[in-house]
Amino acid sequence: MSSSKSLLLNNNLEIPQLALGTYATSDEEIINVVETALTVGYRHIDCAWIYGNEKGIGQGLIKQLNKGEIKRSDLYLTSKLWCTFHKSERVRQQCLATINDLQCQYLDLFLIHWPFAFIDKDPSENNRDEIRLADEIDFIETWKAMELLIDEGLVKSIGLSNFNEEQIERILQICKYKPVVNQVEIHPYCPQIELENFCKKHQILLEAYAPLGAKDRSWKNENDPEILEDKTIKSIAEKYNVHPASILLHYIIDRNIICIVKSSNYQRIKDNFNLFQQNQFQLTQEDFNKIHDEIKIRFRYYKMTDAKDAKQHPFKDWQDFIPQ
Ligand SMILES: NC(=O)c1ccc[n+]([C@@H]2O[C@H](COP(=O)([O-])OP(=O)(O)OC[C@H]3O[C@@H](n4cnc5c(N)ncnc54)[C@H](OP(=O)(O)O)[C@@H]3O)[C@@H](O)[C@H]2O)c1
Repeated sequence: MSSSKSLLLNNNLEIPQLALGTYATSDEEIINVVETALTVGYRHIDCAWIYGNEKGIGQGLIKQLNKGEIKRSDLYLTSKLWCTFHKSERVRQQCLATINDLQCQYLDLFLIHWPFAFIDKDPSENNRDEIRLADEIDFIETWKAMELLIDEGLVKSIGLSNFNEEQIERILQICKYKPVVNQVEIHPYCPQIELENFCKKHQILLEAYAPLGAKDRSWKNENDPEILEDKTIKSIAEKYNVHPASILLHYIIDRNIICIVKSSNYQRIKDNFNLFQQNQFQLTQEDFNKIHDEIKIRFRYYKMTDAKDAKQHPFKDWQDFIPQ
């Protein structure tokens, strides 16, 4: 069995709605995770250079492809251009490096990971943790270089991640190829309704990251609200007799948003896929109203505060809100 439900992109290519997230899974661990996920039925894998595990993902992919049951064309592979590679001459080089690590000939989707750029000091030894802003590099330059990757056949589609409406507007004004998606944080504490409406108007699909609130994040603070523990989500889970994670995944799926969920646990990899495949229930309008009316908390798990001074930081206006 394989992931069957796909959505149509604005370039008429299809994208599987469920993707396996790969952040914070080590290079060694990810080999087995990828193999397991493909066996279970996932076909869409969300990667990024900054996660530091694309070589391991490539090894997992090759192990599966060598079994002969899955072809490269059955897979949907996404990667993201990190902020140190925004200068036009670095875009192609970095895309080739990712293709090489993933051993995948081409990418189905390549995203600009964040709208702001960092200084690229040493191309051979790029320090993944170092953040030194390079505000002078405009993402318009980066986008034009991304478009050339399509012309060259290195990538099938290109898109954005963490862009706000104003930033997307700027891309739309100059683009030869429209972005097909914008990948952003989405869950009931960060519902993104306005961005959803804006993107719909421009035929750009949203991809949701951190749908379960990234509960194992290393930067967790004691008082952070945990969406998996939310009382409204728990009460809806009780109604359907499911785990709160199922409600949070349906919150994405039932809005026709692409859902990127990470797990490195065999059972949860399987459970998340089955939930999607079997689609045993759907959230009703009443459930959505309850979520949106009752939940007052606003919280982003990914704030990128290290880059808060960047001119192009996309969430400058955002404020977390936790009612006392
Ligand atoms: N574009 C961007 O800037 C950006 C930013 C962040 C993330 N992403 C992408 O989005 C993906 C997903 O986001 P995320 O990894 O931050 O967080 P997430 O998918 O919301 O949450 C992952 C956490 O949930 C647990 N989990 C998975 N399935 C579960 C279930 N059924 N029940 C209970 N817990 C479950 C996982 O633990 P186990 O592993 O133990 O199951 C893991 O700790 C990333 O991996 C990455 O690919 C993109």
